[in-house]
Amino acid sequence: MHSGFGPCDVPLSIASRSRSQRAFKAAKGPDSDTSTADVARVYDCLLGGKDNFAADRQAAAKLLAAVPGAAVAARENRAFLARAVRFLAREAGICQFLDIGTGLPTAGSVHEIAQADDPRRARVVYADYDPVVVRHTEALLGDSLTAAVVRADLRQPWDLLAQPTVRTLINLAQPVAILLVAVLHFVEDREDPWTIVDCYKDLMAPGSYLVISHVTAEHLSADAARQAQAAYAGASAPAVPRTREQVTRFFAGLDVVSPGVVNVPEWRPDHIGPARGPRVFYAGIGRKAGPGRPR
Ligand SMILES: C[S@@+](CC[C@H](N)C(=O)[O-])C[C@H]1O[C@@H](n2cnc3c(N)ncnc32)[C@H](O)[C@@H]1O
Repeated sequence: MHSGFGPCDVPLSIASRSRSQRAFKAAKGPDSDTSTADVARVYDCLLGGKDNFAADRQAAAKLLAAVPGAAVAARENRAFLARAVRFLAREAGICQFLDIGTGLPTAGSVHEIAQADDPRRARVVYADYDPVVVRHTEALLGDSLTAAVVRADLRQPWDLLAQPTVRTLINLAQPVAILLVAVLHFVEDREDPWTIVDCYKDLMAPGSYLVISHVTAEHLSADAARQAQAAYAGASAPAVPRTREQVTRFFAGLDVVSPGVVNVPEWRPDHIGPARGPRVFYAGIGRKAGPGRPR
């Protein structure tokens, strides 16, 4: 493992630094309150997990009433995450992963997939602003030397990337995969998620990859979309569905790898045949131009 690097080693223009600092003020994360729905626990509930409480189950039930396929969609999203990590580790030659918006541990975590072929090769840092997610992930990772978790808010890229654990395990001077899977829809438009994502793109070395999946309401009726959003009213974060065009804009300046920004089950499916499940997530992977292995 390399020994880390100082913040001054990060190649970042003054312009992008001030842009990032403007955009990321006053972020507030969830606490351990179980009386209101928490987005990590609602997702855990959809995936059939046990780390959720009555308020989370009520929100999940409302969501399922509006979008009956939401649980299938959550599983499809996890399957996309697994395919994306396998692609990055095996085909793109990536050995550093930063998974932002980790979620509560469930089958097929990033480090399990990325380290499947060689446990020493891939380094993984998980980042989430939810202290419960951090505690559970710490318990999962134990005393791993190659995977760790930090509590951090994705809306503050500078703080997130400056954390000692991140700097020890991730060398931003080398290609990295930054995963923003099923998390950007918890960032409201007024917080300018595009500028936030631009900051991560600026900070990535050439040859790095950005992975995004994002909720959409484009294929729902107006009524279902309204009810789905209402399910998150009062939750730890509101859900903001976006169009394919808005999701594609997150990849501006990157080369989007084939097949582009598509419905989650259509991203390099493992099986031939019609895509299953409701179309409520878009997903894509972009690569910052540079040396290495474009795919
Ligand atoms: C729906 S889960 C997604 C989990 C995993 N990425 C996946 O796709 O299976 C969203 C996670 O993002 C986290 N999250 C939401 N907003 C965040 C923010 N601003 N900063 C860091 N984590 C955030 C939540 O706490 C939750 O654990």
